[in-house]
Amino acid sequence: MKTHRIALIPGDGIGGDVTAAAWSALQKAAGSAGFTLDGTEFPWSCAFYKETGAMMPHDGIETLRRFDAILLGAVGWPQQVPDAVSLHGLLLPIRKSFVQYANIRPHRLLPGVQGPLKAEAFDILCIRENTEGEYSGAGGRIHQGTANEVAVETSIFTHTGVERILRFAFEQARARRGKLASVTKSNAQKYSMGFWDEVTQQLAAEYPDIEVTSYHIDAMAARMVMAPESLDVVAASNLFGDILTDLGAAIQGGLGFAASANINPDRSAPSMFEPVHGSAPDIAHLGIANPIATIWSGAMMLDHLGETVAAAAIMAAIERTTASGIGTSPGKDRTEAITAAILAAL
Ligand code: NAD
Ligand code: IPM
Ligand code: MN
Repeated sequence: MKTHRIALIPGDGIGGDVTAAAWSALQKAAGSAGFTLDGTEFPWSCAFYKETGAMMPHDGIETLRRFDAILLGAVGWPQQVPDAVSLHGLLLPIRKSFVQYANIRPHRLLPGVQGPLKAEAFDILCIRENTEGEYSGAGGRIHQGTANEVAVETSIFTHTGVERILRFAFEQARARRGKLASVTKSNAQKYSMGFWDEVTQQLAAEYPDIEVTSYHIDAMAARMVMAPESLDVVAASNLFGDILTDLGAAIQGGLGFAASANINPDRSAPSMFEPVHGSAPDIAHLGIANPIATIWSGAMMLDHLGETVAAAAIMAAIERTTASGIGTSPGKDRTEAITAAILAAL
């Protein structure tokens, strides 16, 4: 029987609840489809940091490299560990070290879910650059604590980085409805974003079958609310993609529905699957986190591992569950009840 080795990193807050839910759905789907998921759990989190002084051991990346994929809950507990420490000590190094440059985030309404918009029939796939840009981590502070303090944070856009994410987005558009929206702010940020627009135009010549439109981020934010049905694939830089995908989550009914895949398209290292949301300290330990975003991310993981039948089974079970009214609005059903309904549908 085929076995996939999965590293599980529940992380902080609701991360534990939602990864446990996803893992039970994944196990059930694997059992029915006739393959094995061999999971190894790592307690790397803010609690681990408080104990050891690091978010993960010094050889954490090398440990993870031996797995076929990573399923992650959420990282961050700002009450105890500054976000700048926790995220730069675990989540961001994984994305960068494993060259997970394509962050794929689907936004559509599941059956039975009432979004905040009038529009119901939208199906957007956000492709977010995931390793450089505004989140490169290049910068510093000088004269700290004085009146002359200076803080510099440099966005880094490389030709390799911009071309590969746009090419990935063009390919996704080709496999879907043939439309690509490329998002920048080149009217104000003329160097980096002008460069992104230029590479978009160069690639457009290679993809004459794709209808490409460049939008400014501010206009795109409005379009996602006013006319989401006009969008197919949306490609954006790290920061812009981050913001647009919480907006995407909102229009699909909330962060509890927004799934994400951090993909290394070359498969030279494991890819990582996690919900768009964070550790949700405001509802942690209440047992009401919606596990659907993480279960959906688990289905994306199975797709990536080539287990397309099991992935489709999980999606169908999620959809049957929401169609029956379970898990459709925040706080209405408990995590356990939503998970049980999805397992029953599987
Ligand atoms: P958040 O996504 O954790 O929460 C935002 C809001 O959405 C909260 O009101 C929360 O209750 C709600 N929410 C989130 N997920 C939900 C779910 N599954 N079901 C129901 N409601 C849900 O964002 P935040 O509060 O800005 O961040 C909290 C911590 O998580 C911070 O440390 C932040 O840096 C971190 N964070 C981590 C990730 C990640 O690991 N990928 C992503 C975002 C934020
Ligand atoms: C996300 C999160 C992370 C990001 C944070 C926690 C660093 O917001 O995955 O969307 O911006 O990448
Ligand atoms: Mn985010």
